Amino acid sequence: MALLEVKDLHTSFFTDAGEVKAVNGVSFNLDRGQTLGIVGESGSGKSVTVYSIMQILAPAGKIVSGSVKLDGQELVGAGEKVMRDVRGNKISIIFQDPMTSLNPTYTIGHQLIEAITLHTSRNRQQAWERAVEMLRLVNINDPEKRMKQYPFEFSGGMRQRIMIAMALACEPDILVADEPTTALDVTIQAQILELMQKLQKEMGMAIIMITHDLGVVAQLCDEIVVMYAGSYCERGTAEDIFYNPKHEYTKGLLRSIPTTGSRGQKLQPITGTPIDLLNLPEGCPFAPRCDAAMKICIHKAPENMPVGGIHKASCWMNVKAQMEADLAAAEAAREAERAEAARRATPAGIVDDITREVEAELAAEAKAHAEGGEA
Ligand SMILES: Nc1ncnc2c1ncn2[C@@H]1O[C@H](COP(=O)(O)OP(=O)(O)O)[C@@H](O)[C@H]1O
Ligand code: SF4
Ligand SMILES: [Mg+2]
Repeated sequence: MALLEVKDLHTSFFTDAGEVKAVNGVSFNLDRGQTLGIVGESGSGKSVTVYSIMQILAPAGKIVSGSVKLDGQELVGAGEKVMRDVRGNKISIIFQDPMTSLNPTYTIGHQLIEAITLHTSRNRQQAWERAVEMLRLVNINDPEKRMKQYPFEFSGGMRQRIMIAMALACEPDILVADEPTTALDVTIQAQILELMQKLQKEMGMAIIMITHDLGVVAQLCDEIVVMYAGSYCERGTAEDIFYNPKHEYTKGLLRSIPTTGSRGQKLQPITGTPIDLLNLPEGCPFAPRCDAAMKICIHKAPENMPVGGIHKASCWMNVKAQMEADLAAAEAAREAERAEAARRATPAGIVDDITREVEAELAAEAKAHAEGGEA
């Protein structure tokens, strides 16, 4: 049994303008100690997916259907008491902007101690020691002194690391990192990601890493879910996604990230705008932006299809490729049958032949017959 099993999750926002279908049938599993990447452009439903799992949606948001199981326990409909325990002790989240989560009017130490005493059985003295230990773990120098400082006294990278410390202080089974590095410069980004990997090894937790940048998850994730318009258009191992992508959107994402192989080549951003979630099209939501779109893509949405192992994708190109492969296989089978029939009609071991002699004799006979007839 996986630690977290998300099945066909649907979440909508019921607004004055209508039902915004933010998450439309997302499924994935996460095992202990594993890292799952959720990748997609802004507005594709990444945050709403994890907010649904944790049930921290804005008031207009509702899980419409689907299942979220943590350690086998169904969370959809489980009630606020269960969810408070889940949020406190089992799943922690690091938000994109640490300033929105850190209270500017309290010291870092106060906030860390509050979180620790709330979510664990430690008393205030033990919580203070734990907080210092966590700050040291996330590479904050002189943590005893830093505990007494306010959020504005720290750099953006440090605040992000404090958020990680706060999330980890509750010793969660799953750490959700919602674009934790987006606001940071590249060097700090790399440090934060490295730190998260190190902590994961030490603490054995699972991580859900959300990002709009496929490049970020390349070395980090065991499995990747690529989201488009609230659905996952493709999911698979990091190797599947990077070396054998089976959805045109994923292929586009890969063309738009710099790699060592693409040095000197022009990167191609995906053009066009995301789909309106108030009016989802009947066909493939990526069709208006897809260079490979066929007629069927416009009026029929492709289903999620297995394309090998745990690799799944929803793109008609895979059906087309399968049909072409089936046709080629059928033609090859017919050709083999024809060859076999010809082989069977030919007797084995022809050593001699009398065709020429018989034909010559028949011709002579016919000639004699003709001459005799004339006479
Ligand atoms: N509070 C809200 N009210 C209405 N719609 C929302 C709300 N929050 C998110 N959405 C809708 O859900 C979509 C997905 O949002 P989100 O999951 O935050 O995207 P991202 O992939 O950037 O994290 C948005 O494009 C928006 O249409
Ligand atoms: S289903 Fe069609 S439109 Fe959608 S990604 Fe595949 S080829 Fe493009
Ligand atoms: Mg988001």
